[in-house]
Amino acid sequence: MSEDFDVKLVEDVKSYTPDPRYKKNSWLGDYRTAYDEFLKDQDAFWSKMAHELEWIQPWDKVKELDYPYAKWFTNAKLNITANCLDRHVSGDRRNKAALIWRGENGAEKIYTYQQLLSCVMRFANVLKKVGVKKGDRVCIYMPLVPEQVIAMLACARIGAVHSVVFGGFGAAALNMRIQDAEAKVVITADVSIRRGKVIQLKSIVEEAIINSSSVEHVIVLRRQSPQVELRPNLELDFYEMMRSVPADCPAEVMDAEDTLFTLYTSGSTGKPKGIVHTCGGYMVGTYYTSKYVFDIKDSDIFWCTADPGWITGHSYIVYGPLAVGATVFMSELTPDFPDAGSYWSLIEEQKVTIFYTAPTAIRMFMKMGETWPDKYDLSSLRIIGSVGEPLNPEAFEWYYQVIGKKKCPILDTWWQTETGMHMITTMLGEPMRPGFAGLPIPGIEADVVDKDGNSVKPGTGGFLVVKSPWPSMLRTVYGDDERYRKYWYTIDGVYTVGDLAVKGKDGYIMILGRSDDIIIVAGHNIGTAEVESALVSHHAVAESAVIGKPDFVKGNSIKAFVILRVGHEPSDKLRQDLMYHVRMTIGPIAVPQEIEFVDKLPKTRSGKIMRRVLKAKEMGIDPGDISTLDE
Ligand code: WTA
Repeated sequence: MSEDFDVKLVEDVKSYTPDPRYKKNSWLGDYRTAYDEFLKDQDAFWSKMAHELEWIQPWDKVKELDYPYAKWFTNAKLNITANCLDRHVSGDRRNKAALIWRGENGAEKIYTYQQLLSCVMRFANVLKKVGVKKGDRVCIYMPLVPEQVIAMLACARIGAVHSVVFGGFGAAALNMRIQDAEAKVVITADVSIRRGKVIQLKSIVEEAIINSSSVEHVIVLRRQSPQVELRPNLELDFYEMMRSVPADCPAEVMDAEDTLFTLYTSGSTGKPKGIVHTCGGYMVGTYYTSKYVFDIKDSDIFWCTADPGWITGHSYIVYGPLAVGATVFMSELTPDFPDAGSYWSLIEEQKVTIFYTAPTAIRMFMKMGETWPDKYDLSSLRIIGSVGEPLNPEAFEWYYQVIGKKKCPILDTWWQTETGMHMITTMLGEPMRPGFAGLPIPGIEADVVDKDGNSVKPGTGGFLVVKSPWPSMLRTVYGDDERYRKYWYTIDGVYTVGDLAVKGKDGYIMILGRSDDIIIVAGHNIGTAEVESALVSHHAVAESAVIGKPDFVKGNSIKAFVILRVGHEPSDKLRQDLMYHVRMTIGPIAVPQEIEFVDKLPKTRSGKIMRRVLKAKEMGIDPGDISTLDE
């Protein structure tokens, strides 16, 4: 972790208070009252939330702590799909739309809760038929289509552990994730379609499984006609298989602490971390926040623009909203295709009421101008949200005025793959302060502290930490428990998030960005080490260092400094080759925007690259303490 730092906050007194009816009509009611109730008896608070769901067998204890580990709802039995599907099908929501999907070519699919359950049970039987058992790992590498959600829920139905890999990752990144999880089955599609471009997903899978001995089958959703050929025995058709199995599939009885899924996120080494989430706590956390933070009601149409391949999609397209019985809208369209009005036209068409997107998209919309949203009727919106990186005050204002029409509260939600659910936001009805995410939600004790763990004074900066366990916290890092322990021992006694933050006068928290070697580019976490090792795997590269540079739309862009091996000369052609190499290795999201060829890199005497010095030089600012710099 980097040194302590000194931030003096110039407090902007600006704040917006939503119409009091938001608070009055919300599931939560008053924030302070709910937070005090939580503080008074934390276990009782979570027990009350958990009791809103269906359990096969109740818990003995709400939580059992054994620092740095925690178990939640011990010995309880459940199945998350019984809560996301069967619970609604046996009640009034049987024929309610669960999922509405729009594809790029005007395609639309709607699944009622009953229909979604039927598909999930059939696909769960497909997984059983190909030999998948409780505890087996299944890799899902798919486009943003409803079948991706069906595949995830089908795994959960039978207790298989899904590991979803975002469809934008390249073959090497996919290969690493398949190998690390020892996936038995990969579920994919022939193609994904983005901005009218067809990407051959299946070919990437073919390359990714060449040396993956664990993979027994690849199940392929064939979207295009004529249909692509399948390799006999290895590759199976998604829908043909569904027709060949029985309709019913009872939900597997899962222990609350059984693994529900793993999901990879960037870390400070080249190897991503497989974050492990369990059935019971994750279900309670995502259900609770979908209901009490987003305030989802039966009449809402909820649209989270993420891909299910990220944690945002796991928690707020799939598990959370379905657990509350919401109507979820999902779309394969990008914000700028077929034109810059695509999202606004969908909000008008679907009468979306809750819209959840990323600051990078909001800043892109700002750049494209108000004429686009102004062409459409956005009056159905009642709540708008943001996630993934800091929502800067300018973007807040634009989102509030142009999209929310000064009426919709903004939920700027801070959380992580590791936390599984929202942790900090400004709850409905509370005064919103542009630039500040807000306060810890009821159920969460978060704070900004110095490097010794002491709470900082209002107006000063420090490290963002969580002071006590919460139900949907990660349980470990798959196959690497040491990395899990690091979260809890960086600052003793608390969970260190890896973000820098400032506390305002009233306790409101402003998130400044990462304190470690992770760059958030367009809302995606990219480890500098991941990009550096991709570059070094190119035959012309001897060494490299990667930094993030501020970018108006993407938040950050990637710049790489590269030292070439003897016998290679800098050229534009080589620069292009290196960019292509990163694209093929990790994926388009990690491609450096700039590559500079250099003769040496600033290092500490122990040989550690000082990216901070590179960054300061790049931006023409003072590099701070360079006493450890070699030379
Ligand atoms: C950043 C995404 C500021 C933060 C759910 C965090 C944010 C990392 C916000 C986790 C926000 C997420 N304001 N920063 N509202 N939300 N972040 O794992 O740096 O993809 O640590 O989870 O994104 O990214 P992840």
